[in-house]
Amino acid sequence: MKPVRAYAPASIGNVSLGYDVLGAALSPVDGTVLGDEVVVAPAAEFALTVEGAFAHKLPADPATNIVSRCYTHFCEALARTGRHAPIVAMTLYKNLPIGSGLGSSASSIVAAFHALNAYCDYPFDENTLLIMMGELEGQISGSVHYDNVAPCYQGGMTLMTGAAKQITVSLPVIEHWYWVACYSGISVSTAEARDILPRTLPMDVALSFGRQLGVFVHALHVRDAELAASVMQDVIAEPYRKALLPGFDDARQASLAQGALAFGISGSGPTVFAACPDEQIANNVARWLADNYIQNDDGFCHVCQIPAQGATIRPE
Ligand code: HSE
Repeated sequence: MKPVRAYAPASIGNVSLGYDVLGAALSPVDGTVLGDEVVVAPAAEFALTVEGAFAHKLPADPATNIVSRCYTHFCEALARTGRHAPIVAMTLYKNLPIGSGLGSSASSIVAAFHALNAYCDYPFDENTLLIMMGELEGQISGSVHYDNVAPCYQGGMTLMTGAAKQITVSLPVIEHWYWVACYSGISVSTAEARDILPRTLPMDVALSFGRQLGVFVHALHVRDAELAASVMQDVIAEPYRKALLPGFDDARQASLAQGALAFGISGSGPTVFAACPDEQIANNVARWLADNYIQNDDGFCHVCQIPAQGATIRPE
């Protein structure tokens, strides 16, 4: 069996108006690698090595690493189909910051499962693998949601269906939009950012959420960028979560003043995103956010587009 390397991109969960049901993959326009990678190679016994810029932020014991848990889960699923588990050495290149709102855990999970599946010559179809990815994501964040793993794995902008036989549908994207993603450098736990949300919603909030999502999906299908942008407000999480994000209101105001069409929290934050109508405006917004929203040396800001391709495989 030949070693393989999987790359899985960063992603924006929720995209403001689709809490837990909408997500988009990210690809920096300057070619920066913004996603984790996993290499799977033959070995005499299982081993996991962690490298990369954010490796030191992960637990020291590889057995507790999510990639080891993906391996165990994958082998158990394989055993249920009557196949032998492969003995492999895995290397995780942890390129995304942890607790960043960029789908960092999803990126590791997707890269791990995609690499294992490719290494074993694709025993599982995309939907089956996606369900496994969602289960592992749920172990980390406290509940199963696919809005990072799905776009990370499948690319583009994906909407969750709630149906196990087809977890996602792919939405058209507004091709001329540029998405600024700015990570402030602090860490926010997804589980904690979920815990601060109310368990039930007032009727008017539920109606706004449904209306926005319906209008947004329609607008994407008829390629009406203005209509799409007009409903990109977060009525569910942002009112509570922005208190965790120093400088959020100023960043929103400045981004919109410079021409961004929409601004919001990426996933559970602290990364924020700004959807911009052209690259020039995106560059200006990125400059402002880099100068004013970033809190420490770990922070960064990228002008991105939404790639049609999600996770990729190449021979190692
Ligand atoms: N939909 C998730 C949330 C994304 O907002 O909690 C974070 O992983």
